[in-house]
Amino acid sequence: MSRLDGFISRMHSQRAVLNHIKEASMIAPDGVILEIGLGNGRTYDHIRELFPNNRIIVFDRAIGSHPDSTPPEADLILGDIQETIGQFSGRGVAFAHADIGTAYPEKDARTLTWLPQSIAATLKSGGVAASGLPLAHPELEPLPLPAGADPGRTYFYRKR
Ligand SMILES: C[S@@+](CC[C@H](N)C(=O)[O-])C[C@H]1O[C@@H](n2cnc3c(N)ncnc32)[C@H](O)[C@@H]1O
Repeated sequence: MSRLDGFISRMHSQRAVLNHIKEASMIAPDGVILEIGLGNGRTYDHIRELFPNNRIIVFDRAIGSHPDSTPPEADLILGDIQETIGQFSGRGVAFAHADIGTAYPEKDARTLTWLPQSIAATLKSGGVAASGLPLAHPELEPLPLPAGADPGRTYFYRKR
């Protein structure tokens, strides 16, 4: 598969999971959402379109998003996510979306030394996570991917 096809598959898969979470009403109207990795702001924009009444807290090193999809300052946490995400530990988050994979195996392996437990610690029981990197953690039960999402492009969990 070409890198272009892989990228398209990742985008389709992200959208399929996000839309499924909305269609299946998996997030309470007052549930807090974490967007882990703002990047260009495309998935942030999609999430806020799907969940206009939920607070979305967004993490990244720095703002690199299009101005139309840049979160308000009060909802933006800048810095290394390994350090900043800890402030949401135990906060009963409803949904965490993480898109911080790099396609460089050694970098992703370093991220995976802290990401699964950090996400598990933020979620309430029954909260859901979608991630471009697998989140192997005993408290995170893998969920079946919805139609339109390709295995290995996105990973989907519910906290036990
Ligand atoms: C692939 S992009 C996210 C793209 C986004 N989902 C979109 O639709 O535009 C990943 C982002 O995560 C950020 N990132 C990755 N690891 C990080 C870390 N440890 N701390 C802070 N930011 C990180 C990068 O700076 C980058 O902006």
